[in-house]
Amino acid sequence: IKYKKAWKQNIIYEIYPRSFKDSNGDGIGDLPGIISKLDYLQSLGVTALWLNPIYQSPDIDHGYDITDYYSIQPEYGTMKDFELLLEEVHKRDMGLIMDLVLNHTSDQHPWFKASRSDKHSRYRDYYIWRPAGADGGPPNNWSSYLGKSAWTFDEENQEFYMHLYNSTQPDLNWDNPDLRESMYKMMRFWLDKGIDGFRIDAVNAISKDQTFPDSDLSRLQSNGEPFIKNGPYIHDYLQEMNEKVFSQYDIFTAGEMSYISEQDVLDYTHPDRKELSMVISPEASTLGNLPEDEFQQKEWTLDDLREVMQKWQKNVGDPGGWFGLYFSNHDQPRLVNTFGNPVEYRVQSAKMIGTMLHTLKGTPFILQGDELGMTNNPKLHSIDDIKEQQALAYYDVMVNERGEDEEKIMQRIRRKARDHARTPMQWDESNHAGFTTGEPWLPANPNYKEVNVKEQESDPYSVLNYYRRLIEIRKNNPVLTYGEYKAILTDHSQIFAYLRLFMDQTWLVLLNFSEEEAAYSLDPNDIERLADARLLIGNYKESNEIIDLKSGNLKPYEAIV
Ligand code: GLC
Ligand code: CA
Repeated sequence: IKYKKAWKQNIIYEIYPRSFKDSNGDGIGDLPGIISKLDYLQSLGVTALWLNPIYQSPDIDHGYDITDYYSIQPEYGTMKDFELLLEEVHKRDMGLIMDLVLNHTSDQHPWFKASRSDKHSRYRDYYIWRPAGADGGPPNNWSSYLGKSAWTFDEENQEFYMHLYNSTQPDLNWDNPDLRESMYKMMRFWLDKGIDGFRIDAVNAISKDQTFPDSDLSRLQSNGEPFIKNGPYIHDYLQEMNEKVFSQYDIFTAGEMSYISEQDVLDYTHPDRKELSMVISPEASTLGNLPEDEFQQKEWTLDDLREVMQKWQKNVGDPGGWFGLYFSNHDQPRLVNTFGNPVEYRVQSAKMIGTMLHTLKGTPFILQGDELGMTNNPKLHSIDDIKEQQALAYYDVMVNERGEDEEKIMQRIRRKARDHARTPMQWDESNHAGFTTGEPWLPANPNYKEVNVKEQESDPYSVLNYYRRLIEIRKNNPVLTYGEYKAILTDHSQIFAYLRLFMDQTWLVLLNFSEEEAAYSLDPNDIERLADARLLIGNYKESNEIIDLKSGNLKPYEAIV
């Protein structure tokens, strides 16, 4: 794999297997479906594919609740299909990254069943059990990510078990060395098959302060609190994992984390510390979400965006830590809805955001369909249209338990539900977007007749073909991966602008985040090295056009490199 050595230069494409391509008409995407689309992915130019979990699972959290880490969910295919997929990916000079869920299993996992039914089982301590607190209630007041207590009482053995997510996803006890060895063995099983790395789910949550102090914050969702994330032994466990597993293979790892500082990123990814290769954090894609309730949102400005970028682009990075450009994923609304305008300026804003993704420092992650400018699904009307557990739990807590106005809560869910990012990939204008010949598990976004791969292949000005050019440019110019980032026009309310500096090269990026024209004039010191600048890529102007750097006007959502 070309990008194995220079792994930072990867451009990673996230495949949500359930929704990518169905090969047998049961309405669920599968591994043979992915294999049938590898030529498309190769033509896009991405260098590595990340698969969301495909292990056996009752699917309450769509694969993030695992019952057997060693086998493939039958509806996705067989181990043979997986091996063929890996081979076909490698043939096309791409890498394959698997999702690794370390924080919890399904409550149907044999370990949990044994742990629950027998206090003397060797699996008892694979999970976190505690007797009731003084008042007979849960051992402490932590709430889970889904808004209810992080503890569930088990009738069978009269104790509580802990879960940061759903009660069907009990947390594993990483303080137990046997559990850790079991997990390392499982990782080796996949790495021995020749995969190229892992995306590690919620990894900064695996070590908890097991004195379980109460929290004094009364939050709907308190899992971001420092005592839950980045726990006391997290670095010991990652160093052990690295020594015993990662360092034995030629791979890279991306740790999914939230609630982290610049220093945390350095601690997790500095090469000297031998932990992870990079951190991916949803921080930029959750701008404006209220910390105490992420379904609620306040207006955000470019200053907020600049602040996040300053932190990641400026304060972390070569030769220190490393991070992914993780602006969209299967848990967040669609990129165009978060940063652009999905209606009047869908095409222009999708290209503008794609320009940002491919011209910042770090390793870009593309969620399937971003390269088409796919949008949120306007057809999510009522709670019955929702399939994902976070929004369902939110509805339950807010409407059923707290008696909040249903329409008010549905408005929040319509903006934020994870289902938006999980609608079927839009291949062509045929039924269900060409995703399946049967009934899709989640309906396609009705805009598939206009927004699909087939249509965009033949249009030189499509979002898809623009992404192809961006990817090509990024691959040919290491400045975009490694170059220093310098924010300019930092007072501008419509334009996000920066320079990328690398050896004798200077690149300028101007991005209009608004629906209005935006005038700018640049500081002569900033553009000194850019005397005869020519446009490399933009979403209105033709490449090679000479641009006036001193001052100018950007059209709505215009991007210029
Ligand atoms: C991560 C995944 C999300 C999942 C959660 C629990 O945040 O991205 O989809 O629900 O972890 O595993
Ligand atoms: Ca199928």
